[in-house]
Amino acid sequence: MSEQNDTTNRIVIHADRGAYQIERAVYGHFAEHLGRCIYGGIWVGEDSAIPNTRGIRDDVVEALRRIDIPVLRWPGGCFADEYHWRDGVGPRQARPTSINTHWGGVTETNHFGTHEFMDLCGQLGCEPYICGNLGSGTVQEMASWVEYLTVDGSPMADLRRANGREAPWAIRFWGVGNENWGCGGNMRAEYYADLYRRYATYCRDFGANRLYKIAGGANTDDYHWTEVLMREAGRLMDGLSLHYYVVPGTWESKGSSIQFGEREWFAALEKTLYMDELITRHAAIMDRYDLEKRVGLIVDEWGVWHDVLPGTNPGFLYQQNTLRDALAAGITLNVFNNHCDRVRMANLAQTVNVLQALILTEEAGSGLILTPTYHVFEMYRVHQGATLLPIDIACQTYTQDDRAIPAISASASRDGEGSVHLSLCNLHPDKAVPVSCELRGVDTQSVTGRVLTADSIDAHNTFDQPGRVRPAAFDGATHTPGSLEIDLPPRSVVVLKVR
Ligand code: AHR
Repeated sequence: MSEQNDTTNRIVIHADRGAYQIERAVYGHFAEHLGRCIYGGIWVGEDSAIPNTRGIRDDVVEALRRIDIPVLRWPGGCFADEYHWRDGVGPRQARPTSINTHWGGVTETNHFGTHEFMDLCGQLGCEPYICGNLGSGTVQEMASWVEYLTVDGSPMADLRRANGREAPWAIRFWGVGNENWGCGGNMRAEYYADLYRRYATYCRDFGANRLYKIAGGANTDDYHWTEVLMREAGRLMDGLSLHYYVVPGTWESKGSSIQFGEREWFAALEKTLYMDELITRHAAIMDRYDLEKRVGLIVDEWGVWHDVLPGTNPGFLYQQNTLRDALAAGITLNVFNNHCDRVRMANLAQTVNVLQALILTEEAGSGLILTPTYHVFEMYRVHQGATLLPIDIACQTYTQDDRAIPAISASASRDGEGSVHLSLCNLHPDKAVPVSCELRGVDTQSVTGRVLTADSIDAHNTFDQPGRVRPAAFDGATHTPGSLEIDLPPRSVVVLKVR
C-alpha cells in the first residue's frame, strides 16, 4: 500500500458546536501494590532520608500536582481482589503481613493502607477511586469498608476515629471488583453481573456521601461482557469499566521498551488507535440500554505494556518510557476527548515505576525522572473540564509494509475563559506534516504552542540525562482570521492555544 501523500491535511474545528464536557477524571491515574509503584515510588515511610510528608514522597506529590492529577485508582488491579482492607488500618507495626501473590510473591507489609491512601489523595488534591474486593472478599467486608470511610456515627466510624481520623472522608468513585473475567475470579459475565448486583446493593450512601459505583467491565473486545452487564445490571451502576493495553509484540514477547525500530513504532501506534474502535463498539452496546448516556464508560486501565527491563523482577513490570509511549499517550487522550460523551474517567497504568509510568524513581537512591508520557499529561491538562469541540480530520496516511494508519491524531476543546486548545500528534517518524486548520466560530487573534519531540523515536529520559525529552516552545503555527497553518514536526505531540 502506498502512502497517500497527495491528500491535503485538513482539520475543521466546530467551535460553534461544543456540547459535552471533558471530565477532569479522564486524565486520571492508577497506583497498585505492584513492584515499586507504592513502596519506594510513593511510600518511603516517615523515617526515610528521602524528603516526605507522613511517609509519602514530596517530589512525587509535587510532580503529580503539576499535572493537576484529578483522580487516583487504588489498591489494584489484580491486587484489589485479594486485598483485605482491615489488614491496612491501625498502628503500622501491628498490621499483619501478607503475600502479594500476584506480583512477585513479595511480602506486603500493609504499611500503606486506607489512611495513607486518603492522605496521599489529600496531598495531591485529587479524588480517590477505591476498588473493592469482590473476587475473594465478602459482601460484608466491602460494605464495612464503605462504612469505615464515609459514616459519621457507627462502630466502623468509632474504629476509624480510634485509628486517628475523626471526620468521614468523601468518596465518590467506588469499584466493585476488578477484571472479574480473569484475576478477579475467572467468572462468566452472567455470574459476575449477579454478584455485582449483590455487592453493589450493600455499598451504601451514608450522610451526604454519594457513591458512583463502577462495575468491572470488559477486557479489550469482549463485547459480550458489556452486553450482559448492561442488560442485567445497568440500572444499578454509574460506570462500567474497560481495560485495554497496547502490547507492541505479543503477550509472550511484548518487545523492549527502549530497543526497537520503525516496525515496532508503527505496531504500537496502530494498536493505540484501536482504542477508538473499542470505545465506539462498547459505547454502541451501552447506547442500546442507556440512550441518555447515564452510565459512564470508565477506561480504568490503559497504557503500553512492554517487556520488563532486563535484570529487573519480572513480577514488577518495570519498563522505560520513550517518545513512542508519549505518542501513544497523546493519541489515546485525543480518542478519550473525542468520546467524552460516554468516557467519563480513564486511568493510566501506572503512576510510578510500573508499566507506562509518569515517573521513574531510583531503586537505591533518591533520584526521580519524569517520562515523556508525563510531559504529555502536563501539556494536555488544558483539556481537563473543558468543552469538547467536535473536529473533522482529513489527512495523509502513514504506511508500513502493507498497513496504513492516519498520519495525524487530534482533539480540541474550549476552556472556561474562551481559549481553544488543539492537541495534535504526528505519527510519522521522519516526515513533517503540514496541516491547514479551519476554526468555525473563532475569531483567531493569537496562537501559541508547545511541542514534545526528540531526535529519535526511542529517545527517553534517564537518571543521567533527565531532560532529553521535554516540551519546548513551538513556533510552527501561524494564523489568519478563522484559520491556522501548522507545520507538525515528525514524531511529535503539539498542543496549541488559540485566542
Ligand atoms: O496494571 C497491571 C495489571 O493489569 C492489573 O493489576 C490488572 O488489572 C491488569 O491485568
